[in-house]
Parts: sequence; C-alpha cells; structure tokens
Amino acid sequence: MSDKRRIVVTSALPYANGDIHLGHLVEYIQTDFWVRFQKMRGHECVYVCADDTHGTPVMIRARAEGITPEQLIARSHEAHLKDFTDFEVAFDNYYTTNSPENKELSERIFAAAEKGGCITAKSSPQLYCAHCGMFLPDRYVKGTCPKCGSENQYGDSCDKCGATYGAEELGHPVCTTCGATPEVRDSEHLYFELEPQHEYLEKWIPAHTTSDISNKLLEWFKEPLRGWCISRDAPYFGFEIPGHPGKFFYVWVDAPIGYIASLSNWCAAHGEKLEDWWDNPDAELYHFIGKDIIRFHCLFWPGMLHSAGFKTPTKVFVHGFLTVNGEKMSKSKGTFVNARTYLDHLPASALRYYYACKLGGTTDDMDLNLQDFVTRVNSDMVGKITNLASRGAQMLNKSLGGRLGALDEEGRKLVEFAQSRADAIAAHYEARRFSQVPVEVAKIADAANEYFDRREPWKTVKVPESAEMTRTTLTTVLNVFRILAIYLRPILPSYADKAAALFGEQPYTWADLAKTLENAPIGAYTYLATRIDAKQVEAMVEKAKAKPAESGEVAHESRASKNKGASRAGATAAETAAPHADAQERVPPLKSEIAFPDFEKLDLRVGTVVSCEIVPKSSKLLKIVLDAGALGTRTIFSGIRGAYPDPAALVGKEVVFVANLAPRKMSVGVSEGMILFAGEPGVSGGVLTPLATAGAGTPCT
Ligand code: 2FM
Ligand code: ZN
Repeated sequence: MSDKRRIVVTSALPYANGDIHLGHLVEYIQTDFWVRFQKMRGHECVYVCADDTHGTPVMIRARAEGITPEQLIARSHEAHLKDFTDFEVAFDNYYTTNSPENKELSERIFAAAEKGGCITAKSSPQLYCAHCGMFLPDRYVKGTCPKCGSENQYGDSCDKCGATYGAEELGHPVCTTCGATPEVRDSEHLYFELEPQHEYLEKWIPAHTTSDISNKLLEWFKEPLRGWCISRDAPYFGFEIPGHPGKFFYVWVDAPIGYIASLSNWCAAHGEKLEDWWDNPDAELYHFIGKDIIRFHCLFWPGMLHSAGFKTPTKVFVHGFLTVNGEKMSKSKGTFVNARTYLDHLPASALRYYYACKLGGTTDDMDLNLQDFVTRVNSDMVGKITNLASRGAQMLNKSLGGRLGALDEEGRKLVEFAQSRADAIAAHYEARRFSQVPVEVAKIADAANEYFDRREPWKTVKVPESAEMTRTTLTTVLNVFRILAIYLRPILPSYADKAAALFGEQPYTWADLAKTLENAPIGAYTYLATRIDAKQVEAMVEKAKAKPAESGEVAHESRASKNKGASRAGATAAETAAPHADAQERVPPLKSEIAFPDFEKLDLRVGTVVSCEIVPKSSKLLKIVLDAGALGTRTIFSGIRGAYPDPAALVGKEVVFVANLAPRKMSVGVSEGMILFAGEPGVSGGVLTPLATAGAGTPCT
C-alpha cells in the first residue's frame, strides 16, 4: 500500500523523581489514542518514551534514601511502566535517559554543535548560597520582583506582573533552603547559541506549531536570541560533557535526545536501522507535549537538532493543563490524584473515555469534573453503548442459540448509517479532535437504542412465531455495536478486544468497519464495562487527601499552581534569559560538606520528653521540656505541631537533641537546644530536620 505512513510518536518523558498523576495522563492517554488509531489504519507507527532520570532532584532524593540514583530510577521505571500499562498506554518502547545510547547521542549532538560554532563558554553572575555551598537554581531563591516590587517571587519570573528576569536581579534575595542571603558570584558555563539559527527557527516555528504557540515564541525573535545555558556544575547526576571536566549536560539537553535514544534502542531490538526511522525524510515525527514545555520543544530542541544535522519534528502537538472540578489540582482537596490511587478505586477505561470526551486537540485547559465524569461514563459509555451489547448478546445467547441471523432492510440501513461515519471519525482522530468521537458514537448509539426500543425484542422473544424477527433485531443491534467498538478501539482498547472476542474475531483494524456479521455464532458475553459509583470517586478523593506529601508531588503541584493547572514539573519562564532556571528541582539540596572537626562541635545527647504542650497563638510550635539527665531539664520550642496535633503523644519518648546550641530567644520564650526529627516516618535515610514541617515528623530515637 503506497499510502502507508512511517510515523514516530513521543510523549514527554516523565521525571523519575515523581509519581504519575492524572495530570500526566492527559498527555499519555491522548498520545495513545492517536498511536492506536494510526496502527489500526495500517500505518507503521512507533510510540517511544522513557523516564527522564537526570538532574539534581534524583541525586538528592537518592542520597536522602540511602540508595544510588540508579536504584532510584530503576524503581521509578518499574512503577511508571506499571501505571502506564494498567492505563492501557501501550508504548513500543519505554526506556530511560540514563542509557548508553543517550550518552552517545548527547555527546554526538554536542560535538556537532561545538564543531559548528554554536557552543560558547562564558561567565555570568549567579546567586550562590555560601551556607548551602551551591549556586541556586531559580526556584531555590525568592525575593522582590525587580519590575513591580512584589515580594516573595521566584528567581525566574514574577507571578504578579509576569516579568521574567535573572535571579541576580531580585531585590532582597533569600535562599529558600536555608533562609540565608545569597551572594552574586561568577561561574563559567557552556551556552548553546541560538542566534545563528535566528532565521531558520523563525521560519521553522510557525510551520511546525499552531499559531497561538508560534505567536508567543516569535515575540523573542524581535531581538537577537540569547544563548541557552546547557551545563551544570558537579555534583550532578547526568552525563559529563566531553572536554569539559566537572561540567554536566543540563537535564533538559539529554531529555529530548532521550526520544532518539529510546527509538534507537527499539530499532536495535527489532532489527531496524535508526536512520530509517529518525533521519528518514519520509518518516514523520510527532511530539505530544504540555504547554509548559513549549520552549524546550519548539525552540531549543529544533535548534539543537538542526545545528547537529538531525531531522527536526514534523509537528509538535501541544495540549493544555488539567483542572479538577474547575480548579487546579489540590492535595488538600484530594484532587491531586496519583495514577495508582485512581486505579485502586476506578477502572482505567472510565478515565480514558472521559478524557476522550474532553480532548479537543487545542491548548485549552481541560477540566475533569468528577460529578460529570460519573454521569457521562454511566449514561453514555455504559447506558447507551455497552447496553446494546449486553442486552443484545445476552438475549441472543439465552433464547436464540447464540446465532446471528440476516439483516433486514431497516437493519441494513442502520448498519450502513453507522459505517457511513467512518471517514468523519477518522478525520477527528487524525486531527486529535478526540471529543468528537464519543459525540459521533453517541449519535449512532441513540439511533440503535431507538430501534431496539421500538422493536421491543424483550416482548417478541417470548412469542415463538416472532423468534426470527427478534433474531433480526438483535443482529442489527449487535452489528451496530460492533461498528461502535471499532470506532472506540483507540480509546477503549481492551473493551474493543473483548467485543471482537464476542464475535469470534481478531482485534479490529479500521478495515473491519466494512464488514457485516450475519448468520454467524457469537461467543459468551463477558462484561465490558460497569457503572461507576460516586462513592468510588469519594473514596478516591479521601485517599488522595490522606496521602503524605511526596517530593515528586510537591514538584508537580508547585508547577500546577504556577500554571493554574496540572502538568509536569519543568522550567516556566524564558530560560534563554535565565540560565539556571530549574523549576523541577524542588527537593532540598544537600547542604555543603562539613569537615569532621565541624561535626565534632555538635554535642548530641539523648533526653526524655517530660512534658509537651501547645504554644498559644502559634500554629507550629510545641513547647517541650526534656529530662536531659546530668544537664538537668531543657526547654525547647520545636515547630512540629503539624506532625503532633496531640502533644501528649510525645511525652515519655526519648529524643536526640543538640545540647550545645546557643540558647535562642524567641517571641514565646528561650529555646535551649534543638531536637532532631526525621522528615518522613518509616523511611530510612530520611532527612533529619530541626523543624519537621513535612507534616509527619517522628522523633529520631
Ligand atoms: O517536564 C517534564 O516533566 C520533563 N521531564 C519532560 C521532558 S520531555 C523531553 F524533552 F524529554
Ligand atoms: Zn542556602
């Protein structure tokens, strides 16, 4: 077939340091719809993805857990893949960016860019926290917006006035980790220069994105394009840059290259050549991404690929964020739901169906209204569509020997009407107007239900003389249902495969739409979908509320709040202007290394909590009196009330405290030391903190 297309499709690579949640699934599920549709049409389509494993957060989290980054990313990989599989997201390859293929490709692309004169090195002023011993990524510093004067703004952009700037421009900057005032220091970094590709990218962008996106991006083209900082200082979990010891590729360099690496790994496993898939001008390449990572995919990425002589994407498909009940996802409201929490309460097919109903192929945000979700699944997917099969097949099996008859004139017309929508539905899929598919399907199902009700087979089946008429009715209804199952297969794959099994057929392709089934046996009816109950949704929401904060979620939620919706973590502002924008990096970094003599200065002792009471007018503080043995008693104020709403629970516990900390005068009294608490209970390697604000501190005894 000459019109057979060769298509490579990607979804953005999820960070290895967080769980998959319903916001992520907006993207993976829609990509999966599209890929499955292409495969059903007979095209060669390969869907690749991977875990995005590099960067500071993974390194810090692994250290905190006492494991290697490799162990951490292996664990995430398994969990992510299981979530995706259970949501029926079928990658052809789900790989990792920490792979030999990715290292080799990253080095190759960098070398080509360097050779082409696109890499420069320069020192730039950045904020350095002497206390933490590190340069501060933009999300690790807050201060006053240099444009509008709003306080408490991050180092890359202002929430109030929308200005973007460099962190060193902030007024009164504060390190968000330790509260110290950072200093401005120079650091040398490598930059990928975009200006040489000014003209190329100015033409490329509108040709490969939609106008709303290109209009925004092209704003930057009024001036010379600024270089993009692509290096990070050690320590960093990632690939060291050849020829630049101590410098590592910024995670956003090797993440998109991970698309090629995953494809290359797939090729090797399938006896294919990468050049036939990526660098083949006849092969198409599509990236599905959220609107928060447009710059990386529509500016830096084509720039990098082009400078290295690689093929650039055919199109970048951008979607909006997910809101739940009209608001950004919220942990306290229980609407920040992890994939696994959802699956513990509800079927994947229900979410896939609902997302299909809401996805229009634009960058508009998409709302998951939980009440509407229950209603639509029950009334349409189950009531309107599935009931055709369950009533029809069960009656045919029970009373008519499970055998389809012939279609009559009216039946044939109805089936032909169902078939006649094939091109329109295919066009909707192709254009990612997924919401139009359930609309089309519902129209056909309405006609079939009207036919069913008018012919009253439940009555005619009881009259022996009208048995064949009943068979004709059921044959019509089941044929229509079969067509609907084919239309819905990209959205509801296992559902459609069960339908195919009912009719003794192989998994459907688009070509199966042309067929009708007559005078053939059907199999036993197995359940396809059942109604969902609002109580399941309530239980899920309660569970999501109960879940303790995880660092990954924190990253995602902070992203969500910035964007008024949920997507994945990443940078948010003009990274060209802000070399160290690293919005994903939400886990506190390791503090600076201390020498043994520094450690020796600490006098750590064990004491027993004698009394513990709430400090009036303070939402955080507890007043704790310790029996410190030979030292007598010590009164210590600790900000851990969130974790111990019942202070009595601490009485009698042994705790480790810093005995030689200088007494600190607080508004509520003098604190004579500091008690050490672990951030998360039951997690070995948890971070010890004097102020266990994580909401679940336990005494470290
Ligand atoms: O924003 C994110 O979640 C990134 N991990 C996406 C990377 S996509 C690609 F470039 F690898
Ligand atoms: Zn600091």
